[in-house]
Amino acid sequence: MLASYLVADNSKPELDGHRMHKLNIVFLGFGRMGRAAFVSLNQITDRLRQEGIDPYLRAVFEADENLISILPDLTGAKAVFVDTRAARPVALSDLLHQPVGLRADDEFLIYDATPSTCHLENLVAVCEHFPQAIYLGEKPLFTRRSGLIALNHFGEQILCDFVDSQNQAVLKLLAMQRGSFRIERLRFWRLNSSGLQKLLAPQDRRGIEGGALLDKGIHDIALAAILMRNQQITGASWTVREATNLAFMPPAPDSDGLTDAAGYARIESLGPPRANAEFHYSWIGVERFDDLSTSIGQPSLRALLNRHGLEEPSWLWRTPGEEEARIALVEGTEAGRDTRLVVNLLSRPGIQPFVFHAEREEFLDLSFYRSSESPLARVLNLAIHNCVNRLPLSCSPLGAAIIAQAHQACFDIRDQALVQQPHATSDWMQSECILNV
Ligand SMILES: NC(=O)c1ccc[n+]([C@@H]2O[C@H](COP(=O)([O-])OP(=O)(O)OC[C@H]3O[C@@H](n4cnc5c(N)ncnc54)[C@H](O)[C@@H]3O)[C@@H](O)[C@H]2O)c1
Repeated sequence: MLASYLVADNSKPELDGHRMHKLNIVFLGFGRMGRAAFVSLNQITDRLRQEGIDPYLRAVFEADENLISILPDLTGAKAVFVDTRAARPVALSDLLHQPVGLRADDEFLIYDATPSTCHLENLVAVCEHFPQAIYLGEKPLFTRRSGLIALNHFGEQILCDFVDSQNQAVLKLLAMQRGSFRIERLRFWRLNSSGLQKLLAPQDRRGIEGGALLDKGIHDIALAAILMRNQQITGASWTVREATNLAFMPPAPDSDGLTDAAGYARIESLGPPRANAEFHYSWIGVERFDDLSTSIGQPSLRALLNRHGLEEPSWLWRTPGEEEARIALVEGTEAGRDTRLVVNLLSRPGIQPFVFHAEREEFLDLSFYRSSESPLARVLNLAIHNCVNRLPLSCSPLGAAIIAQAHQACFDIRDQALVQQPHATSDWMQSECILNV
């Protein structure tokens, strides 16, 4: 089974007299995430080869003509231009056949880092025409509910890059759960200031669609789903109890106007044992989020962390025009004792993920999970192993069960927020934000 998964190639390199398993990989999009994935793939290539897997970047697809000309030298892969402005663009499946040369029954891994609005079409094209291929897409995979139908149909071929699932702090939490740690309450804050740029120049927005909820919130919703599943709490019983919009960004020029919700949601897991999860997400930075948050009676992130003696430089990325924080408060029991953990999920130069034990007032050791590999490198590693070993994908931390839960929860939150706080309020919030810039 393993051998049949790999593309036949007589020039396969040898490993101690054994044949290497060559895995063809195709990248779609070579923007910020595509480049990061390329670096990450290089980080894991030697290790994979030592394990007998040869990851071969066969082609990179790009829609940017300037990038296309430098891609072959930069990546060593075939560069394929996708003419998105053509009156009748060539279908992705046709381009994979020719010029890339993949056949309908070939097995390969596609990594999709095009803008989110392209993912659904790409996913369907790959899964429909190449039933042995695995599609790994950047999040969000879908910005509309209809995407879930495709997920249901092609679930065994689809993975989604929930990059935080491979963050050192999360790996530590998962390991603690395999011991006696039981989570009862999760609270996430994911804030950055890219919305300020979007407010000032909405026409320049790139890559991301779906607003702070689908861009930021989905990371933590997926993480919550992964942690809950690790505790045998399935997501089928999740309910959005409360959802409010703390701010709406002006809609993108051709959007439906609903894409930029930033806000607060309380999700409850009703399955035994009980576990609550709250999510706060925003594109307007810590300062402005904190102001808005406290003005409607929600907690202040800054005050919360200060209460634990956690100084700002250790958890907040601050560069001119850019501000980012990703914090989780995880409460539960360990060996029968109440345990509260403050978790920093942000990993940026000078800022390390950490898990701080609030009762013991100490940082838990994450050194075991530190390596020169980025979390994205670990995601690719996981996807490549899922591919090569033909593991059932739906149960992977990046697989259909988590993808469905995370996207479904986002759509539920978005719908509920709109019902609870219709446009009249969001217009008011919007003008508040613009005035504050
Ligand atoms: N997992 C994460 O942590 C994370 C972080 C940031 C972004 N993302 C997601 O990654 C995706 C890409 O974001 P980005 O920041 O890299 O965007 P980006 O704009 O930097 O890159 C997108 C690239 O895709 C190319 N492109 C556009 N249409 C294409 C097509 N049809 N075929 C081939 N190439 C095409 C563009 O020319 C561009 O170079 C988005 O879905 C975003 O939400 C995920």
